[in-house]
Amino acid sequence: MREEFMSLLQTFRNPALALALAAVLASPVAADPASDDPAAEYAKKGADTCLKCHDEPPVNLVFHTPHAQRADARTPFASHDCETCHGASPEHIKEPATKGEKHTPTQVVFGVNSKNYPVSPAAEQNAVCLTCHESGLRMNWHASQHQFADVPCAACHDVHALKDPVLVKNEQPEVCFTCHAEQRAQINRRSRHPIKEGKVVCSNCHNPHGGPGPTLLAKNTVNETCYQCHAEKRGPYLWEHQPVREDCTNCHMPHGSTQPRLLKVRTPYLCNMCHSENFHPSTLRTGLGVPPTGADDRLLGKGCLNCHSQIHGSNHPSGAHFTR
Ligand code: HEC
Ligand code: HEC
Ligand code: HEC
Ligand code: HEC
Ligand code: HEC
Ligand code: HEC
Ligand code: HEC
Ligand code: HEC
Ligand code: HEC
Ligand code: HEC
Repeated sequence: MREEFMSLLQTFRNPALALALAAVLASPVAADPASDDPAAEYAKKGADTCLKCHDEPPVNLVFHTPHAQRADARTPFASHDCETCHGASPEHIKEPATKGEKHTPTQVVFGVNSKNYPVSPAAEQNAVCLTCHESGLRMNWHASQHQFADVPCAACHDVHALKDPVLVKNEQPEVCFTCHAEQRAQINRRSRHPIKEGKVVCSNCHNPHGGPGPTLLAKNTVNETCYQCHAEKRGPYLWEHQPVREDCTNCHMPHGSTQPRLLKVRTPYLCNMCHSENFHPSTLRTGLGVPPTGADDRLLGKGCLNCHSQIHGSNHPSGAHFTR
């Protein structure tokens, strides 16, 4: 509760956000569009009216989705059917569908793919969905990067599809990649999370509707996000390695890396980002050279990890240096 209040407070401290919020609040569409506005002229026969002209897939597939459970009073089809979402459209349904003549729906028309009409602004579209979906995962929507960037719900969700692709594990990444091309490249690198295989999905780590932490993460912090599946890294350890406790991305790339084990760079350079190169740890020749070459041992095999193998922390009484 306190956190919600603080984030609200921050919203108002930031003049740009406050203005944006004020604009949303002042806009007429922020009023409950699904409510029974007596002035609105909804089609007398509900969906049947629309189906006279729109009875083809993908439009009519909506009847096979959770939204069409008429018996469930919470669904759009328990009130004004199609128009619960699309808005009362008396002008639109009146016009004859003459060939070559364009209909002009006067009400909210959804759609990133609309070829025929100007698409309603994202805030207007989203207000409709949010009348029913404001809680749960979407608690932080109004402070999310996607909301600020005017991304409509319909950019990710296809409510007319038999199964909304973004809710299907191995189809979800493609939806995200339409806008996040860099991540597509990252998940194809040699070391990567098994995202392509559908074992890990973007929404395991991100809540695209907004999260309490940074970068739309699903949990408060990067580490909490990783511990969901790598619980053993949570510790507590007798000997903690400070950067591990702080943030896994000090050393790892979450999506994919050209280095093994999702590492940002390979050892010893990884370690040398923080540890001096000047004496034991990193002098080029440690004197411990491996025969027969006597070559620089820190560059061999796993480098520093040959000895410092418990890099995430150790529970061994003499593991202070993470060597056991
Ligand atoms: C008399 C026939 C007719 C009726 C009735 C009708 N529509 Fe349409 N609708 C059309 C035509 C034709 C188009 C334009 C399609 C085109 O130009 O490709 C259209 C376009 C649309 C679009 C925009 C599609 C896009 O490309 O973005 C939406 C949304 C829509 N109708 C919803 C509805 C809803 C909801 C109802 C019921 C309240 C309804 N229509 C009733 C004929 C009709
Ligand atoms: C849960 C809200 C919701 C309901 C209920 C709903 N729609 Fe839609 N409809 C949408 C959204 C969102 C889009 C935009 C999809 C997109 O752009 O990818 C859309 C798109 C459309 C389109 C354009 C399709 C296209 O491929 O361009 C038509 C036509 C349409 N809806 C008609 C209807 C009709 C008729 C009904 C009732 C049988 C209906 N809708 C029920 C939300 C809804
Ligand atoms: C009138 C209320 C209402 C409106 C408006 C509405 N929804 Fe829903 N939606 C529901 C209900 C009820 C369910 C079923 C929830 C459940 O079963 O727990 C649902 C389910 C969903 C699901 C899950 C579908 C699945 O296959 O599990 C998604 C995604 C969704 N809605 C997105 C949207 C989007 C996007 C919009 C706006 C275009 C929208 N909804 C508008 C009431 C609504
Ligand atoms: C950037 C992509 C994206 C946008 C934008 C987005 N969603 Fe989602 N949505 C998802 C993903 C991914 C999931 C699956 C989440 C999961 O499984 O944890 C989801 C799940 C859902 C669900 C079903 C799960 C639940 O919470 O019950 C609903 C309902 C929903 N979204 C509604 C919305 C509404 C309403 C909006 C707009 C305000 C919206 N979404 C905007 C990607 C998006
Ligand atoms: C319609 C385009 C679009 C789609 C689809 C989309 N995003 Fe985004 N996303 C954006 C924009 C725009 C931003 C804000 C600007 C930026 O940071 O790139 C953003 C921001 C983000 C951020 C925060 C970036 C940061 O620096 O804080 C994450 C994480 C993210 N998106 C994940 C996802 C995921 C996961 C999906 C799929 C479920 C998805 N996005 C789908 C457009 C999109
Ligand atoms: C294993 C967890 C995990 C998965 C799975 C994941 N991400 Fe991320 N993502 C992160 C973390 C952690 C960050 C923050 C990186 C940082 O702060 O350096 C991030 C950052 C981002 C950003 C912001 C830009 C950046 O690189 O900092 C975008 C956009 C993004 N992710 C999109 C996606 C998309 C799209 C998917 C699915 C294809 C996805 N992520 C899957 C953990 C994950
Ligand atoms: C949804 C579960 C999940 C989450 C959350 C998750 N991981 Fe993973 N991680 C996996 C799976 C599955 C593998 C592959 C294991 C395998 O192949 O044996 C993996 C592998 C790894 C690997 C080893 C990669 C390799 O090449 O061997 C690293 C490093 C890693 N994860 C780091 C992270 C970090 C950092 C985070 C947080 C940003 C994180 N993981 C969040 C499931 C997850
Ligand atoms: C100081 C750098 C560093 C930090 C910070 C770090 N790691 Fe690692 N991690 C490594 C190195 C180096 C390896 C490769 C170890 C090897 O090859 O023996 C590794 C390997 C892994 C692996 C795969 C092998 C295994 O041990 O299971 C996982 C999973 C992993 N890390 C998860 C995490 C998580 C989760 C965090 C955050 C809690 C984290 N790492 C923070 C350096 C780090
Ligand atoms: C992001 C910075 C960072 C990275 C990268 C990093 N470390 Fe550390 N490391 C630290 C900090 C901070 C400490 C705690 C130093 C202290 O207590 O004086 C530490 C402590 C240690 C210690 C224990 C030192 C002692 O005095 O007991 C060892 C051993 C160590 N690191 C090895 C490594 C190795 C090997 C790598 C590469 C795989 C590595 N570190 C990567 C920041 C880092
Ligand atoms: C041949 C084994 C070996 C290799 C390789 C090795 N170390 Fe060490 N390291 C040790 C041992 C043993 C200690 C404890 C030394 C001591 O107590 O004097 C140690 C101690 C440390 C310490 C704590 C130093 C201090 O003064 O408290 C750091 C930091 C460290 N190593 C980092 C590294 C880094 C970074 C690399 C790779 C560039 C590396 N080590 C390679 C065996 C190794």
